[in-house]
Amino acid sequence: MTKTYTFLLNGEWRESGSNETISIPCPYTQEEIGKVQAITRDEVDEAIKGAEAAQKAWATLSIRDRASYLYKWIDELLAMKEEIAEVIMKEVGKGYNDAVKEVERTADLVRYAIEEGVHMNGESMLGDSFPGGSKSKMAMISRVPLGVILAISPFNYPVNLAAAKIAPALLAGNAVIFKPATQGAISGVKMIEALHKAGLPSGLLNLVTGRGSVIGDYLVEHKGIDMISFTGGTETGYHIASKAKMVPLVMELGGKDPAIVREDADLSFVANQIISGAYSYSGQRCTAIKRVLVNENVADELVTLLKTEVEKLSVGSPEENKTIVPLIDTKSADFVQGLIDDALTQHATLVTGNKREGNLIYPTLLDNVTTDMRVAWEEPFGPVLPIIRVKSDEEAIEIANKSDFGLQASVFTKDINKAFSIANKIETGSVQINGRTERGPDHFPFIGIKASGMGAQGIRRSIESMTREKVTIVNITE
Ligand code: NAP
Ligand code: G3H
Repeated sequence: MTKTYTFLLNGEWRESGSNETISIPCPYTQEEIGKVQAITRDEVDEAIKGAEAAQKAWATLSIRDRASYLYKWIDELLAMKEEIAEVIMKEVGKGYNDAVKEVERTADLVRYAIEEGVHMNGESMLGDSFPGGSKSKMAMISRVPLGVILAISPFNYPVNLAAAKIAPALLAGNAVIFKPATQGAISGVKMIEALHKAGLPSGLLNLVTGRGSVIGDYLVEHKGIDMISFTGGTETGYHIASKAKMVPLVMELGGKDPAIVREDADLSFVANQIISGAYSYSGQRCTAIKRVLVNENVADELVTLLKTEVEKLSVGSPEENKTIVPLIDTKSADFVQGLIDDALTQHATLVTGNKREGNLIYPTLLDNVTTDMRVAWEEPFGPVLPIIRVKSDEEAIEIANKSDFGLQASVFTKDINKAFSIANKIETGSVQINGRTERGPDHFPFIGIKASGMGAQGIRRSIESMTREKVTIVNITE
């Protein structure tokens, strides 16, 4: 018998009145690892009502007082590090060492959020800068919380990407309704156990578990929600944006990050960056390198280097810290296999891979991929990397920008002027020059444009997105 986890409602760990639970399977053993509550709409109402009430008092505390709870959360998270990592590993199939790193990275993120938040001092303006204005008018511009933040997180970083929303929200004086991905909900329960142990006042963080397809729309459309911070797939993002009322939205969605490789690049270095960028955690990262646009004059050499490295990748169980692990579920593995099959049917060259055992897809490298193939455009979220050979920088830029997605891109070259020139023309939230695509360090702004999102994350940007400016004007009379 596995454990049935409860959900946190106004300071109490509760079973749902629905009497329904959701079974969470392990992606690599397929055995149930536990059950989470499938909560009801009435419980969602209760959670939002409780959060609204708790937020009022929380916002009146000093930021240092609010920070004191988050410091305790860091301590509790680190004290539970191995326990949480074990759950992440079993629930989302992430290598154990990477799962430990996810918890440590989360502790660092919360700490940095506190340091950033306590140093955000607002600004002041004097009236005399404007024609006809006077020094006797002074505006104090401060940031105030929005109220109740709905934080919806994806499966692949069930702790870190949830905390990236929860910490800035709480620090800024908001309450949070946290809806974890269902496959990731036990990790969510565990990290919130740590927050509960830290003594966070009741109602400030209510954890709502249940399928997005069942309670998602109800949450998103709820009039008690003042802002939505969502990370997940593009289709879900579009759906949420179409349902949300007039509340601010931050959306971090899918990607199809290109690595542009110029003729003059250091190819051994590039191969290493591409391998870790494309294949770590089986490519289940929004920022994974998902296509290579390489100059045809160096393509053969790069493909040879990549083949050697891909064939060295370890494949197997997350418990043994393998790089290539089974994908999150069968539907995802079928989807990746469909992209590979489509490319091969259309005469892409199979360099290595295309082997499957259940949900475990072996690392696959496809050469001579053309823009007619689905794998040139669709996000696999799996370990398959297409190589598209290009004749020029211009062609690489054109194909890079034709994508619906716009998360990140990498440019590899020794010519720094060309690097900047290409970076300026690429339509993504960030461009990495001579480095793999990645989100961290977590205080950098993290931005998806086009189908990759709207708004920005990154610690300071997250605090800003969860607050609004308030202007208080003093009129000094002599
Ligand atoms: P997903 O299927 O879109 O789910 C994301 C979250 O949305 C889950 O919590 C899900 O709950 C919830 N949800 C589903 N339907 C909803 C609805 N109608 N209303 C409200 N919430 C709803 O994504 P995923 O499979 O977990 O994650 C993989 C995707 O996320 C990839 O596309 C990846 O690129 C993207 N991602 C982007 C970033 C970024 O920062 N740009 C980071 C990580 C991942 P359930 O689990 O209960 O369905
Ligand atoms: O999956 C999306 C994450 O934001 C990627 O983060 O680049 O640190 O793996 P990462």
